[in-house]
Amino acid sequence: MNVDIIILAAGQGKRMQSSLPKVLQSLGGKPLLQHVIDTCSKLEKVKLHIVVGSQKKLIQSSISAPKSTNWVVQKNQLGTGHAVKQALPSLRPNSCSVVLYGDGPLVKLKTLKRLISNITKDNLSLLTFETTSPKGLGRIIRQGPRVMRIAEEKDATNAEKKIKEVNSGILATSSRNLKNWLPKLKNNNAAKEYYLTDIVSFCNLENKKIKAINLGESNELLGANDSQELQILERIYQKEMANSFLENGVKFADVNRVDFRGEISIGKNVFIDINVILEGNVSIAKDCSISAGSIIKDSQLGIEVKVKPYSVIENSKIGNNSSIGPFAHVGPGAELDKKVEVGNFVEVKRSKISQKTKAKHLAYIGDGIIESDVNIGAGTIFVNYDGKNKNKTRVGSKAFIGSNSSLIAPIVVGKNSMIGAGSVITKSIPENKLALGRSKQRNIAKK
Ligand code: UD1
Ligand code: CA
Repeated sequence: MNVDIIILAAGQGKRMQSSLPKVLQSLGGKPLLQHVIDTCSKLEKVKLHIVVGSQKKLIQSSISAPKSTNWVVQKNQLGTGHAVKQALPSLRPNSCSVVLYGDGPLVKLKTLKRLISNITKDNLSLLTFETTSPKGLGRIIRQGPRVMRIAEEKDATNAEKKIKEVNSGILATSSRNLKNWLPKLKNNNAAKEYYLTDIVSFCNLENKKIKAINLGESNELLGANDSQELQILERIYQKEMANSFLENGVKFADVNRVDFRGEISIGKNVFIDINVILEGNVSIAKDCSISAGSIIKDSQLGIEVKVKPYSVIENSKIGNNSSIGPFAHVGPGAELDKKVEVGNFVEVKRSKISQKTKAKHLAYIGDGIIESDVNIGAGTIFVNYDGKNKNKTRVGSKAFIGSNSSLIAPIVVGKNSMIGAGSVITKSIPENKLALGRSKQRNIAKK
């Protein structure tokens, strides 16, 4: 059976009080809508229809959706039913349709599969849940076990408002049913909107079955209408991410004090201390340790890398058994081979460093190509910028750069050569030489 997925994302989300459309608000570093798209894309035989409003361009440029996605425009936001109606002409014949709201990012794939497996030719399946604070949500009105209708907050009586079972907004039925019901919607309600939820009554009028799957007190179907709700979802999401890593052998000092903001993969036996932020596309191989306060963004770490406290790594690759920090800044554009040591207050930018090279204290390595077994002394500066261009510094293997040296790029330091501490190096150094570029010391009698 073909599945047409309709995701509603046309609302501005006034309650969020932000110029960014609600569905672009971030959860775990990813727009709310992106979470919904990513989960739906894992379903088989699906086509996505995303309903957007005047912010279409902004949404399209902020989101990655499958190529086959059909972008539907809802010119005026006249309600969720009106939004789904705009997608009707694009639904495939004999397909079933699943409607989701772009502001409900936590729904799980297995729940959607369960919903879809309940669709028959004639019925309507709904996902509902229970909450002690149902305010703002559509209440599920049952007569015995049968769902009769959904009462929106604004229209509900006081007795109805006490009902704890609420509508998630996610439903599934045959596309034929949607095509039959949606044109009949009226907006004679408190909000003067065309409520999608009114199709429940139509289904009953036609004596068709309604299957409401009640997930109980689950967080999975919560939505975010305002900043407070978004905060609640963020914490739920972060805890879920941490727990799923825990289950896969990652160790944490405290699962409540780490943030995942992107596509993160972490190997077994990695230890993550408090206040670590992993952002963008990050992959950390097994046996690494990431110390407190470190931020790793869009980077790959090999096996057994040690990131010591308060280090920042961005857009970089770190080889096996290397160590970074404390207080190091690596990247963007750093490529470290295995067993490289980048220590206290060292910055490495757009540089390639081969194995076993060490820069343990207070250095700036910019636009460098450094071979293996090089020792970069404390206070070394790669003077890469002449005011106009960035120039390269190349350092041959086993070279030894004495502390507090400036290498004025472009420059080559030959293999196995040595630079005396405090030198300003303006000319390339051949292999096996000792370069001294400092004024001679004079000891003068004190007056
Ligand atoms: C909706 C449901 C409510 C349910 C709740 C679950 C209706 C009438 N109410 O209320 O029963 O409990 O979600 O979270 O459906 N949108 C459009 N076009 C529109 C209006 C909305 O695309 O004209 C989109 C919004 O961008 C949003 C989604 O539909 O992603 C839901 O709209 P929202 O205003 O958040 O509905 P709720 O008031 O939360
Ligand atoms: Ca909502």
